[in-house]
Amino acid sequence: MRKIEISELKENFFETIGKEWMLITAGQEKSFNTMTASWGGIGWLWNRPVVFVFIRPERYTYQFTEKNDFFTLSFLGFDNQARNTYNLCGTKSGREIDKIKETGLKPLITENGNITFEQARLTLECRKLYVNDMNTDSFLEKSILDKWYGGNHGNLHHIYIAEIISAWTNE
Ligand SMILES: Cc1cc2nc3c(=O)[nH]c(=O)nc-3n(C[C@H](O)[C@H](O)[C@H](O)COP(=O)(O)O)c2cc1C
Repeated sequence: MRKIEISELKENFFETIGKEWMLITAGQEKSFNTMTASWGGIGWLWNRPVVFVFIRPERYTYQFTEKNDFFTLSFLGFDNQARNTYNLCGTKSGREIDKIKETGLKPLITENGNITFEQARLTLECRKLYVNDMNTDSFLEKSILDKWYGGNHGNLHHIYIAEIISAWTNE
């Protein structure tokens, strides 16, 4: 993988996050977890390049994003292998299965000790800057609250804003 300047990123992140999806991975070589995510964003805040991701506290990955200062976003592409990996990492928990063994993902360790995967066409390594819980009173459109947090959908997401500290591509 080749390290690139963040300013070189020319992705349409509406498509990349919303349609391609991504893996959020946190932890170190001896203990980490990864999960699929398709909600989030990339932007500019506090004069830094940042990502926004949203993780429900019931995810096993949450324990790792809470404990660690960093996480990575790995974008795997659209091929069949990528779809299979995303589907498995988005429906099964690392509490129940070994996602690395089941998917054939090959971990790569960054110079900061964070984990991405050989299969990623693009990786963003991120350092947490701001975390907070969503709050029911802050929803101005109550239908969103009902649709995504009603019934057995799960708990309110935890919000992470993190600085993109490095980017790699294999393209
Ligand atoms: C396409 C897709 C997108 C998802 N996006 C998110 C997300 O943005 N935030 C989240 O908390 N869960 C999201 N999930 C659900 C988690 O990936 C799923 O619950 C996963 O099994 C959690 O694994 P873990 O328990 O090992 O962390 C998504 C699942 C899929 C299939």
